[in-house]
Amino acid sequence: MIDLHIHILSELDDGAESIEEAVEMAEIAVAGGIDTIAATSHGDFSLYNPEEYLEVYRKKLTAFRKELIKRNIPLKVCSGMELMVNESLLQWARKGALFGINGGKYLLVEFLFDISLSQGERMLEELLNMGYKLILAHPERYDFVKRRPEALYSLYDKGIILQVNKGSILGDFGRRAFYGADWMLSQGMAGVVASDAHDPVLRTPGFEETARILDLYYGKDAAKVLLERNPSKILK
Ligand SMILES: [Fe+2]
Repeated sequence: MIDLHIHILSELDDGAESIEEAVEMAEIAVAGGIDTIAATSHGDFSLYNPEEYLEVYRKKLTAFRKELIKRNIPLKVCSGMELMVNESLLQWARKGALFGINGGKYLLVEFLFDISLSQGERMLEELLNMGYKLILAHPERYDFVKRRPEALYSLYDKGIILQVNKGSILGDFGRRAFYGADWMLSQGMAGVVASDAHDPVLRTPGFEETARILDLYYGKDAAKVLLERNPSKILK
């Protein structure tokens, strides 16, 4: 299985705090049936310079890949970033290329949780018009979706891929996020399920339980489609 959203690189964001913790997360991912991940550290360009951040990101990624080889952990780590969509990101996008998953055109994007649908939609449209393909991280966690999941039709209809968090499916983010995740999955609107793991203890990698729930409640091929087939197409 493939995990397209995980904060595994250490000391870059609020994910893994050390390389040891990152290795522990990799071991949990592999034990939980995952062979490929995209290391999607947070990228908020209102807080730091994108070029400098990218340089540090690349160094961390290379060091982590070497560490996995050294320890014989069979996990392929693709590049990626979870980009915070705000005016700074758009400004940067107007003059330079943004950092897509596995070096491609798919961007994993997120908002602040209290953004309105119209504000979010306007910024995503600008990115779509630049030729990017978009994966919206954890739609079920935004306030406008918690209030009214149907608001997602307008984003879905634009071809934006909706990425549900495993924690929302398991009920870790509360009743409304659980309901939003269930709503997207029941409608067949979810394109990808990912861990959004941040550590080896609380927000963990691995899809064993998630895959069982997907197949049990959303059709027998749900896990295959959402945890393998669609993520694999995005990486390619
Ligand atoms: Fe994330």
